[in-house]
Amino acid sequence: MAPALRVDVLTLFPGLFDGFLGESILSRAIAKGLVDVKLWNFRDWAEGKHHQVDDRPYGGGPGMVLMAPPLVAAAEAVALMAEPVGRLIAMTPQGTRLNQSKVRELAGEPRLILVCGRYEGFDERILETLCPEQISIGDYVLSGGEVAAMVVIDAVMRLIPGVLGDAESAIDESFSPEVGLEYPHYTRPREFRGLPVPEVLLNGDHAAIERWRREQSRMRTEAAHAHATGATITVVPPERIG
Ligand code: ADE
Repeated sequence: MAPALRVDVLTLFPGLFDGFLGESILSRAIAKGLVDVKLWNFRDWAEGKHHQVDDRPYGGGPGMVLMAPPLVAAAEAVALMAEPVGRLIAMTPQGTRLNQSKVRELAGEPRLILVCGRYEGFDERILETLCPEQISIGDYVLSGGEVAAMVVIDAVMRLIPGVLGDAESAIDESFSPEVGLEYPHYTRPREFRGLPVPEVLLNGDHAAIERWRREQSRMRTEAAHAHATGATITVVPPERIG
C-alpha cells in the first residue's frame, strides 16, 4: 500500500536528516510504511566539473545566492518522479508562519516537496519559476531550511493515522494551540524537592480532574495570549459591570 504521506526533501545537506529519520516515532512510521521521506541533493542537478550551486549576488553584497538552474531542474525532476506531483513548499524566513492549522492542512496532502535554502537564500527567479508556497517556522533566520523542514515533517507526520501509538494519540487533540494550550502533567514521584502533585489528580474523581485540567488549560492559554499581544488588562463587558 502506498504511504499516507510522501515527503521529498531537496537539500544540499541530506546527512542532517540521518538522526532525525532514524530514531523514535518517525523511524517507526517509515518502517510501518505510513510515511515515506526521500532526500535529494540538488547538487546532483548542477552542471560543470564543480557542480556549482551558489554564486555571488549581482549588485554586490555579502554571502552567496543559490543559483536557479540546478534547483529548478531538481524540483521539476523530483516532482515528476511520483504521482501526484505534490505540494511544493520552500522553507524561507519570509514565508507564512507555520501554525497547527497549517500543519493539519498539510497532513491532508498525499505528497509534500520541501525545498531547503542555504546561504543568503534563493535567486528570486527560483521562486518566480516554481511558485512554491513559502513557509517560515518563526521570525528568526536559520542557516538553512533543513531544521525548518524537520519541524514541518515532525508536526505533520504525527497527525497521520497510525503514526502515534494508542497511548500517545489518546492525548486530546482538541488541545491544539488555537483551541487551548495543554494542562500541566505530573508523574511519579508524588513529591519532588518539596513540590507536591496537585491533590485533585490523586483522588480518582475524574470529573474533578477534567474540570481542573480545562481550567488550567484556559489559564495557560489566556496568559500566553496576553503575553503575545502585550495585553495587561482584562476587559470586562459592560453588561457585567455593576
Ligand atoms: N530558512 C532560514 N530561516 C528560516 C525560517 N525561520 N523558517 C523557515 N525556513 C528558514
